[in-house]
Amino acid sequence: MNHFEYGPEGLACEGVPLARIAAEVGTPVYVYSRATLERHFTVFHSALVDAGVVDPLVAYAVKANSNVAVLKVLGDLGAGADTVSEGEVRRALAAGIPGERIVFSGVGKKREEIAFALKAGVAEINVESEPEMELIASVAAELGVRAKIAFRVNPDVAAGGHAKIATGKSENKFGVSFAEAARLYANASNNAALQPIGVACHIGSQITDLEPMRAAFTKMRGLVEQLIGEGLSVERLDLGGGLGVPYFNHPEPPPPAAFAAMVAEVTKGLPVKLAFEPGRVIAANAGVMVSEVIHVHERPEGRKFLVIDAAMNDLVRPAMYDAFHDIRPVQGEKSGEAVYDVVGPVCETGDTFTRDRALPVFGPGDLVAFMSAGAYGSAMASEYNTRPLVPEVLVDGDRYAVIRKRPTYDEMLARDLVPDWV
Ligand code: LLP
Repeated sequence: MNHFEYGPEGLACEGVPLARIAAEVGTPVYVYSRATLERHFTVFHSALVDAGVVDPLVAYAVKANSNVAVLKVLGDLGAGADTVSEGEVRRALAAGIPGERIVFSGVGKKREEIAFALKAGVAEINVESEPEMELIASVAAELGVRAKIAFRVNPDVAAGGHAKIATGKSENKFGVSFAEAARLYANASNNAALQPIGVACHIGSQITDLEPMRAAFTKMRGLVEQLIGEGLSVERLDLGGGLGVPYFNHPEPPPPAAFAAMVAEVTKGLPVKLAFEPGRVIAANAGVMVSEVIHVHERPEGRKFLVIDAAMNDLVRPAMYDAFHDIRPVQGEKSGEAVYDVVGPVCETGDTFTRDRALPVFGPGDLVAFMSAGAYGSAMASEYNTRPLVPEVLVDGDRYAVIRKRPTYDEMLARDLVPDWV
C-alpha cells in the first residue's frame, strides 16, 4: 500500500497534489511520501517480530535512497543502515543513526573508509574476501581497536530480477565461499585486532520467489551451526536485502509476512540475532518521479514519441535493466489511449523509458508520474548531458519540503576548474 492516489486535483502524494509540487519546484522532480516510508519500514519490522524473530536489526540499505531526510524518517523509527561507502556511513550518521545500528558492506572498502567506520563504532564490517580481512585487521591494529566483522558468504544460489542485480552465484564478485568462511572465521578469532561476530549473505535484488532465499538461508543456518560446533562465537546472522516489490507488470512479490514466516521457520532455535538489509521494499513505492511532456513527435511511419523533460540520467533503471515503471497522468484520469515510445532529451537511443506502451493521450505541458521510483531512482541519477541533478521533495500530510535542491547552472559550472596553462 502507498499514499499516491487520485483526488480532485489529480494524482496526489498524501495531501499534496503532484501538480502543485511540479508548478512550485519545477520538473523533473522526485516526490516521496513520509507516511509510505514509515508504513513500509513498520510493516517489514513488525512482520519479523510477529513471526517470532527476536529484536531484529533492520538496517535499511542506504544505496536505495540515500537522502538524509529519508534516512532520518527511517532512523527515527529505529532503522539501522546498511552502507557501502564512507559517504553512506556519513549520511547515516548525519541522519542520527548511531554507529551500533550501522552495517558497513561492499566489495572494495579502502583503508581510509575502514578507519572512518571503525572510529564511528559501526555494528559490523562485512568482510568480502581474505585480503579485505587482512586490511581491516591492519587498520584496526593501527587504531588500537578490535574490529567487529561478519563474513559475507556467497551461497551460490541464483536469484534476482535481472542478471545485473543477481549477486549470489559463485561467479559473482561478492563474498567468500562456505569453506573459506569457516577457515577465515577461525583465523579471525585468533587475531587480536578482529572480533568475528557473525556471517552475512545477500543473493540479489527484486526477488519475487521465496525459494532461492529459503535455500540460501538454510545453507547459512548450516554454516552458523558448524561454526558454533567448532567452538566459535557467533552472535549475528545477516540475511541481506532483496525482497521484491510490485512494479505493476511483474509477478507479485511475496508480502513481508510470508518472507518473515519463512525466515522464522528456517532460523528456528538458532541462538543468534538476525539482521536484514532491505532497500527497495522500503523505498520503491514510497516515491515517484514527475516529469512534463515537452512535445509529441509523430513520425511519418506512425511511431509516436512522447518527449518528456526527464531522461536516463534522472531515472536510469529502464535504460540499464530494461526495468518497467508504471506511467500515470498527473492531472487526472484521461480518456482515450495512444501507443507511445516515451523518451528523454539525452542524446542516446538508450534514453527510452518504454516502447510501444499504450498510455492516455498526452499533449505538451501534461505531467506524467513514474511510479515505484523511490528506490534506485534519484540515488542513481547523474548530471550526464549537463542536466542539473534532479531535486527531491518529501511530503508529510498537507505539507512538503524540498529535501535536495536542484543545482543552478552556476553551481554546476563552478565545480570545473580551468588551469591557467589551458
Ligand atoms: N545488501 C546488499 C549487500 C546489497 O548489495 C543490496 C543491493 C541490498 C542489501 C539491498 O537490496 P534490496 O533490498 O534493495 O533489493 N540498482 C538496482 C538494484 C541494485 C541492488 C544492489 N544491492 C536496481 O535499480 O534495480
